[in-house]
Amino acid sequence: MKGFLLGICLLWAMLLRSNMHIALPATVLNCCEGDILLLLDSSGSVANYEFFRLLLFAAELLRPFSLGRGHVRVGLLQVGTNPNLEFNLDDHNNQESLQKALQSVSQLQGDTNTEAALRVAQRLLTKTDVNVPKILLWLTDGVQPGDVDEPMSKLKAQGVSVLAISTVHGNYQVLKRAVTPPLESHLYSVDIDDIDIITEELRDAIIKIIRAERLRVVHLTSHSAVLQWRPVLSTDSGYYELWYNPVWKTDDETRLNLPGDSSLVEVTNLQPDTTYTAALRPESNQKLFDTLYVNFTTLPDVLSPAVVSVSDSGPRQIRVSWGPLQLARVQRYTVEYGAIPSGDVHTMTLPSQQNSTVLTGLEPGTQYLVTVSALHVNGKERAMTVRACTQEASLPALADLQLSLVERREIQVAWQAHQEGLKGYWLSWETESSHSIKPSTSYVYLPPTSRSTRLTHLAPNSRVCVSPVYSSGRGDGLCCTAERRADSRHWG
Ligand SMILES: *[C@@H]1O[C@H](CO)[C@@H](O)[C@H](O)[C@H]1NC(C)=O
Ligand SMILES: *[C@@H]1O[C@H](CO)[C@@H](O)[C@H](O)[C@H]1NC(C)=O
Repeated sequence: MKGFLLGICLLWAMLLRSNMHIALPATVLNCCEGDILLLLDSSGSVANYEFFRLLLFAAELLRPFSLGRGHVRVGLLQVGTNPNLEFNLDDHNNQESLQKALQSVSQLQGDTNTEAALRVAQRLLTKTDVNVPKILLWLTDGVQPGDVDEPMSKLKAQGVSVLAISTVHGNYQVLKRAVTPPLESHLYSVDIDDIDIITEELRDAIIKIIRAERLRVVHLTSHSAVLQWRPVLSTDSGYYELWYNPVWKTDDETRLNLPGDSSLVEVTNLQPDTTYTAALRPESNQKLFDTLYVNFTTLPDVLSPAVVSVSDSGPRQIRVSWGPLQLARVQRYTVEYGAIPSGDVHTMTLPSQQNSTVLTGLEPGTQYLVTVSALHVNGKERAMTVRACTQEASLPALADLQLSLVERREIQVAWQAHQEGLKGYWLSWETESSHSIKPSTSYVYLPPTSRSTRLTHLAPNSRVCVSPVYSSGRGDGLCCTAERRADSRHWG
């Protein structure tokens, strides 16, 4: 037994030593931002050798990531009779410190109380920044994991990705239910001695979850783009080199150096409707960083006039507006308009600083086709056409209306109106009805020569209205209320 233990220790020491010789990778994977909580089965059912192999595996798996806030954070929670938080997410912000911590973990032994550990995991993973992806990486021998279905479901419902590695095939069903799909890349059952073969595949699966879009396009126009990235340098730790070119024109490259404390740049003088590829390399003499890439396509060019609108239309005029104003690019505007279908076409030429005009002398109730065209400095012409309607001609309203009392319940109505095109007058008033309390309305149509009339049997407070009628319709009328005073002698 002693010899066996010694054997394990020797092996462990050898593993450690060989491990120490692996230098940190030259390029730090600054691909990602996310929280990874290792849930390590540390109970008595896990062989000591297995336990240390799992730790070594985790160390290898995490080695390439750049650590800390804004990058990858790693915590380690051990499962035993009682859970043990070996280190928290904020404890290690560089690989040296994480690797050292992973090498000094000792096994808890005891029961596999996974449920208790999951309660701690839930607390740790859900109290942090919700926008950062979170992973629970469960390393277990798969023996008697306990009733983990519910707490695992809860974690997943809160957006935590659950990945699992089991060294024994035993409770595959439980593990299958626990992990976040897809199973092929999130659940591994391997012999502990072959565990290294899954390192890369699992790391890729993790990167897929926590990959941060590092160089992003946050604003695009037809001639410019704003690129943003998560800062990895400071003023005195280096600078960024940025270069970009149209994807299909690699010889047309622009290069810029940007200060180490920058995280945003606007690139200008781009071609419209063109796909560019941009690269950003953080240059530091302390560390090597990945070069970040992004592709983007500028918006199509906007040529004035891009919008033409019509407002303030009256019977004989229409206001036409257009935009955008492009003083530097437009020589002049031309506005052409004609009645549909066959009116004469009129043309106006306007300077480049003008973005609206009023078309006058139009026919009422008529549809016009209006074309605004811009002659651009480069000789190009762009035109836009809209339809616009003039209003119907409004007919003259009644000019004057007067009521005067003649006798009780009888009044004289007098009015004045425009005579041109007049066909007659339409009068309405309310009369007292003999068989109902409600007054009834009476109407009369009078010839155009009438100027006044007499109305009898008016209801108290009757409204009297007179409208002029023209050949093309009825003009606005006037109304008065025949208000009977208490003495019944005066009408308002
Ligand atoms: C950008 O486009 C090029 C050409 O299509 C492609 O080879 C490259 O992978 C793209 N890069 C990114 C970051 O999408
Ligand atoms: C016309 O130009 C003025 C400023 O000169 C601007 O306020 C207005 O929005 C422009 N109208 C259109 C339709 O572009």
